[in-house]
Amino acid sequence: MGRFPITRRQFLSSLASLPVAGFFTNATCAAPFEIRATSGTAKLGPADAPETPIWGYNGGVPGPLLRVKQGQKLSHRFINELPQPSTIHWHGIRIKNSMDGVPDLTQKAVPPQKNFLYEFEVPDAGTYWYHPHNRSWEQLARGLYGPLIVDEANLPEVDDDIVMMLDDWRLQPDGKIAGDFGSIGDWSHGGRLGNWITVNGKSDFDRKARLNERLRLRLINTANARIFSLGFSGLAGWIVALDGQPLRKPMPTTHIVLGPAQRVDLIVDIAEPVESKAHLIFYENNQEYVLGSFHVKGSARSNRLPRSAPLPQNPLPPLGDLDSARRVSLNMEGGAMGRMSGAMINGKMTMMPSLVKQGKVWAFNGMADLPEAPLVTAKAGETVRIKIKNNTVWPHAMHLHGHHFRQVIDGAPPGPLRDTLLIESRRGTEIAFVADNPGDWLLHCHMVEHAAAGMTTWLKVV
Ligand code: C2O
Ligand code: CU
Repeated sequence: MGRFPITRRQFLSSLASLPVAGFFTNATCAAPFEIRATSGTAKLGPADAPETPIWGYNGGVPGPLLRVKQGQKLSHRFINELPQPSTIHWHGIRIKNSMDGVPDLTQKAVPPQKNFLYEFEVPDAGTYWYHPHNRSWEQLARGLYGPLIVDEANLPEVDDDIVMMLDDWRLQPDGKIAGDFGSIGDWSHGGRLGNWITVNGKSDFDRKARLNERLRLRLINTANARIFSLGFSGLAGWIVALDGQPLRKPMPTTHIVLGPAQRVDLIVDIAEPVESKAHLIFYENNQEYVLGSFHVKGSARSNRLPRSAPLPQNPLPPLGDLDSARRVSLNMEGGAMGRMSGAMINGKMTMMPSLVKQGKVWAFNGMADLPEAPLVTAKAGETVRIKIKNNTVWPHAMHLHGHHFRQVIDGAPPGPLRDTLLIESRRGTEIAFVADNPGDWLLHCHMVEHAAAGMTTWLKVV
């Protein structure tokens, strides 16, 4: 990819100034047994910017790095010190249903000052994350999220392993998070977009690097609604995994689009001469913003490593016969410019003006709240196909709990395993997965305002 004339930071809005980053590497972390959702402060901006009051796991953003080996058990007591109920959802983990953290579906939301023990095994290696699943449109926006990294039995040969959690904040000039969480304008449009981007809760991700150094970068989009369109300069390598699941054939890294909740694992070599910088770049509206810099210093790593092998596949069952699979359709409607006239709430037909009053401006199959009956009931082990039609003028990031799926494309082999898929406006697509995990599982848009405003349904596996 070409070089960019990046001479100085550019900013997303007129807000004084605030983009991006800090990093943490694979420090051997003594994982805390207790995870407290509590208030704290964070230095999201440059040195001279005010501190931001946040809500964070153990008071920080991101929350503690949780790191275990594949197949191990995680055991964490969640303590809720927020003024409102909360839960933890372990995004992308093929978890046992009772640990999935979905209020009123898999557990009761944990009230303020109460706690809940999350204990489960992690079947798949890869890059995952955790976040609240109650009022996520406020709790996620205030900073509640953290990385969950599951290590392969044999780690790939890299010089460093770096988690980069991308976030998009809506900050006021005084440094505080804007309090307009329920804005119907955001909910009916693209969700809550911010004006300040951070990587790992900092705006100045800048790491020393050596020529030919090989890095594993784990990018996680934790934003409520922002889609990151990303590129690289001075970094050459491959995409090795999407949403935690290894690709059979690593793909060259060029341009990456990361929707809300999606992850990508990259193995890259630093290919920039000494004293210059390699960059991770975010593109928007024909602007380029530096999200992270790798400052090349010192002597080169002696020799360039050979191309890395694919990561080992995780133990997922192969898709069954697609022709005889159980089929279901999901129509997405509503939103601004969506011409939806009404939708069902609580089994009652409700017209648009009243839907707006209730903040329900989107619908799945004509229903604007979590339906009583599941979208589909599957027998454990069955292959399920969901035909999804996005009849709105907005893109959506569809996330399935407890499973990974593949996109089914006519006349082509199924796509890579994912747990979250971006579906462009007015497009249709189909996903298929083996429903092998018993329980009640959400299927929702991960633009969390859309999910709260009607884009949530669920499946049952018996
Ligand atoms: Cu990352 Cu239902 O969530
Ligand atoms: Cu959406």
